Parts: sequence; structure tokens; C-alpha cells
Amino acid sequence: MSQEPFKVAIAGLGTVGGGTVKVLRDHADVIAKRCGRPVVISAVSALSKDGLDFDVSGYEWYGDAVDMANNCDADLLVELIGGSDGIAKTVVEAALSAGRHVVTANKALVAHHGAALDKLAEENNVSLNYDAAVAGGIPVIKTIRESLAGNNITKVQGILNGTCNYILTTMREEGRDFADVLKDAQELGYAEADPTFDIEGIDAAHKLAILASVAFGVEINFKDVHVEGITHVSAVDIQFAEELGYRIKLLGVALRHNGTVEQRVHPTMVPLSAPISQVEGVFNSTVIDGDAIDTLVLVGRGAGELPTASAVVGDICDIARGLSVPTFSVPVNELKQVPTRAMSEHVGAYYVRLSLMDEPGVFADVAAALRDHNVSMEAMIQRGREKGKPVPVVMTTHETSEANMTAALAAIEALDKVVEPPRMIRIENA
Ligand SMILES: NC(=O)c1ccc[n+]([C@@H]2O[C@H](COP(=O)([O-])OP(=O)(O)OC[C@H]3O[C@@H](n4cnc5c(N)ncnc54)[C@H](OP(=O)(O)O)[C@@H]3O)[C@@H](O)[C@H]2O)c1
Repeated sequence: MSQEPFKVAIAGLGTVGGGTVKVLRDHADVIAKRCGRPVVISAVSALSKDGLDFDVSGYEWYGDAVDMANNCDADLLVELIGGSDGIAKTVVEAALSAGRHVVTANKALVAHHGAALDKLAEENNVSLNYDAAVAGGIPVIKTIRESLAGNNITKVQGILNGTCNYILTTMREEGRDFADVLKDAQELGYAEADPTFDIEGIDAAHKLAILASVAFGVEINFKDVHVEGITHVSAVDIQFAEELGYRIKLLGVALRHNGTVEQRVHPTMVPLSAPISQVEGVFNSTVIDGDAIDTLVLVGRGAGELPTASAVVGDICDIARGLSVPTFSVPVNELKQVPTRAMSEHVGAYYVRLSLMDEPGVFADVAAALRDHNVSMEAMIQRGREKGKPVPVVMTTHETSEANMTAALAAIEALDKVVEPPRMIRIENA
């Protein structure tokens, strides 16, 4: 074993930074054996040492993370501050420019600036690794970049946000509404005080844009990802889904078509027979379809101190071993700029819930609206019947285009016996 240590500087000592310090410290012996050399922390940076539950006295302390990125004695810098711009971006740019490898868990930074940072890494002949940025402890980036390098990958999808999966699971198990469960999730620390990024699907969209790039060899295009969060999912839809043999998940789906890429994040009904439907609580899952592998399902913890640190340390170890893999599977100048397919061209099956007055002729009107827009119904459930009161009616459709479905729903909404805007959820045979 070489005795020349591989030196690591860590910027940000919060949840993931603290976990990374602990994993590198507690598993130092086995990591040294696996990497063929000791991997040591040489420097750390945070705003303050207050409240840290681990000892940093053996590491050089920097109050300014950019100063550390420029001047510390380290081969590699780990960025665990967070945010797509500002200090995190400056720190990563400074470290790469100073010829240091970078490992980050920052999906927002990679989703917004991945290609530019990749270019900077290549120019400086260093690696940029970010496995922890997508699905936390699940090694999905490594799996796609390395283990599936021989595949033509056609589809990547997944449960990419543990907060949303926890909320949807609890809503189903306890028959409670979204707002109520969100409040609990905040109290339990599963959701942030400002949960917008999670519940509106933005965090999942960051991860999906990164997955699409790595899987399909295209430049990251976060801004064109179709994003819908879970705020409109109701307990009643979850109940009907179950009755129809589905479970509702916030799914990120990326598909490669001829000349376009489909990228979408939205509440999705997945069949109870699909492995992903059984992934519950804060767990994440990714499903990858490749022409040689067929389908590969990964399940694990998508966040948390040690699971995320596990992925960070895995990335550090690869670099300490001298393993270098193109950041997004292919060199940056090989990444293609491919347009994102318009949602109107999406083809799939749908679940629709209507609230309508149960009066003669109303079903015929709904059926006519569907027929006029080439939508054919697969199944229908009607619950209850009370004179003068609206009743919920749910249906699933056979495959049709989103353009057809949107037009049919507009026609249905215009019917005078339909008392609420229809609720639509896409179905995916994950
Ligand atoms: N938490 C997870 O489970 C998880 C999972 C996957 C990915 N990630 C990603 O990992 C990154 C870190 O997340 P986290 O949950 O560990 O965040 P966190 O607990 O808020 O930690 C952020 C750390 O950065 C420090 N910091 C803020 N500004 C700084 C500056 N100017 N210079 C140096 N340090 C600074 C903070 O110091 P103060 O505490 O003093 O403010 C804190 O120690 C984010 O990009 C996040 O998206 C997190």
C-alpha cells in the first residue's frame, strides 16, 4: 500500500458534511485498504464550529470556503454547502481551477451548471463526481456511468424525493389529507420549514435532469423538465387508485425518443405489481431500462446523514484509487443538445376523477367528449348516488396522447353537469 495519503478538504459541515467526516474517520482503516492509500481529511470549512458533534481540531480550519478551495493542502474538495449559485458554485469553480478534484451532493448546482463545471474539470484534468446528488445513498450515477456503460439506455424513472414519498405513503396508510400530513412531516424533520422545492417537484426535477444527461449522453436541460408537485393529490384519489390496482407516487420519468428527450416529474399512478409501487416512506428508487440489462431496479435511502455520506465517500474513494470516468458518461464535447419533447406529445394512459350531477344523459355527454377526442375508456367507478348532489366518478383510459386528453378534459369541464374541474393523473407502467 502506498503511504502517500490522499487529502480531502470538506466545505460545509451540516448533515451531509458531518456524516462524511464521521464515515471517513470511523472507516479510515478499511478505506485505506480499499483505496490502496490512506484517505485523510486535511481541511474543513463552515460558518462556525458551534454545534458540531464531532472533533475538527485535527483539521486545518477555514472560515472562508473559497479561501480553502484556493489555498488548502488537499487533492480533492467536497462541496456540501448547497444552493445552485452563490458560494457553492464559487467554491467548486475555485477548487477545479486550482486543479483539485471535486465531489458534491449538490443537485441544484449540477442541474443548473453541470455542463460548465464539467468543462472546467476537463480543462484542469480533474474529476467531478456527484453520486450523492441523485437519490442520496443509491449509487445510481455510478451504476449508469460504469456498470451499464455497455447499454443503450432508453428510459430512467424513479421516486427521487423522500419527502414526497413519505407524505404520499402516510396519506394512503392513514387516509389523511396532504396539508395535514405535511405539517407532521415538518415536525418530524422529514420536510423543510419551507417545503416548496420538495413538494412542488423541483428537487426531483433537478435529479431527473441529471439522470437524463448521464443516461442518454445529452446536455442537462433542467429548465424544460415538465414539473408538477404533489400539492393537489387528495386522499380520495389515493383511495380510488388503490381500488383500481395502482399506487400514487411522485415519479420522475426520462425517455429517449428519436431526436428528443421526454423529461417529466408529476404524480403518477403505478400498478401495484410494479416493484416501485412498494417503495414506501422516505425510501427512493430508480428503474433503468437498457437494451442489454432489460430492467434494473435500485432501492435505498435517498437522504440522511450517513446514507448520503456513503455515496460521497464512494465518490472520494474512486478518485483516490485513480479511477476517472467522464462526468456525464461521455466527454463534455460529445454531449448532445437535444430538445425536450413537448408534453402534448406524451402518450400514455390516464386516471380522471369527475364530480358530476348524476342526471339522465350526463354519462353519454362525458362519453361523447372522450370519443370526439379519440380517448377510449378502460374502467369506470361511480360511488354513491344522492339526488341533487354531485357524485364522484373515476375512470381510467387506454393509451392516448396528452393533446387528446387535454382537449377531452376541456370539453368535459364545459359540460353544465360537471361541477368541478376534472382531476387527471398520468398512469405509468413502471
Ligand atoms: N441532507 C440530505 O439528506 C441530503 C441528501 C442528498 C443531497 N444533499 C445535498 O447536500 C448538500 C448539503 O446538504 P445538508 O443537508 O448537509 O445541508 P446543511 O445541513 O444545511 O449544511 C450546510 C452546511 O454548509 C455550511 N455553510 C453555509 N454557508 C457556508 C459558507 N459560506 N462557507 C462554508 N460553509 C457554509 C452551513 O453552515 P451553518 O450550519 O453554520 O449555516 C452548514 O454546515 C446540499 O446540496 C443538499 O442538496 C443533502
